[in-house]
Amino acid sequence: MKRNLLSITELEREEIEKLIFDTKILKRRQKTNIPYRPLKGKVMGLLFEKPSTRTRISFEAGMQQLGGSSIFMSPKELQLGRGETLEDTAKVLSRYLDIMVLRVYRHETLEIFAEHSDIPVINGLSDLLHPCQILADIFTIYERLGRYEDFKIVFVGDGNNVANSWINLATKLNFELTISCPEGYEPHPEILKKAQDKGAKVKVSHNPYEDVKGADVIYTDVWCSMGQEEEKEKRKRDFQNFQVNSKLMKNCESAFFMHCLPAHRGEEVTDEVIDGPNSLVWDEAENRLHTQKAIVLHLLNINP
Ligand code: CP
Ligand code: NVA
Repeated sequence: MKRNLLSITELEREEIEKLIFDTKILKRRQKTNIPYRPLKGKVMGLLFEKPSTRTRISFEAGMQQLGGSSIFMSPKELQLGRGETLEDTAKVLSRYLDIMVLRVYRHETLEIFAEHSDIPVINGLSDLLHPCQILADIFTIYERLGRYEDFKIVFVGDGNNVANSWINLATKLNFELTISCPEGYEPHPEILKKAQDKGAKVKVSHNPYEDVKGADVIYTDVWCSMGQEEEKEKRKRDFQNFQVNSKLMKNCESAFFMHCLPAHRGEEVTDEVIDGPNSLVWDEAENRLHTQKAIVLHLLNINP
């Protein structure tokens, strides 16, 4: 049966561990420059409704490095833009391609596409979730801390798609997660409730200067996600106290700093933090490449 990756919740704990270890193998292999082409002849399709630097390029580069290829599409270049249904598009693309990545506004778009597609479908970000990002993040933490459990991470900012996926990961692995957000910007209530019901160590709080104490990792993301541009000015005001700057980092001095990027410097994070010695953002961005390869191989049942 074909597998998708629309949400971290679809993965078993053992699969997440395997993805972490496979990523390590693939990263090491990449650094040694030994050719490894298990995807020869395989073609990935990428259908993106929103812009992307890391997700798109790491998937496309990853496919090429593994011997495969990729085709990038935006809805307006397809007949989708002229009214062909998503269902019909999914069926047709399944006949040409081996695996698909979609970046969408509505999460439901992914679900419909996946249901009508015979090939694995990967969520390259939806308004609700960003699972590939979080898999690269947990690998980055593993690289630095030497463990992917028993740490405390504080997500400072908007309870958005990235925060929701962190909550999902906390139902699979044993770590402490605090979402420190302004009131009214909490993560998705159902995702949070389900995680808490399953015993995940997740809490929501509104006091960033208290919340970050004792953290191993401080994580943030933009205050205004793609599609929320109209709320930009209001959000800037509402998130003022949630900027990750050196004053905030003083309350958790040894903590690493992470950000999925792109960053809006001077808003959610200051230059001194993102460019500072505890920032992991460039490794984190690089690890998207190695993790995407592990994800693709996993969904195509190939062992690296
Ligand atoms: N972090 C992330 O997904 O970046 P892009 O929007 O550039 O893909
Ligand atoms: N929350 C951000 C993540 C970008 C990678 C957005 O959805 O725009």
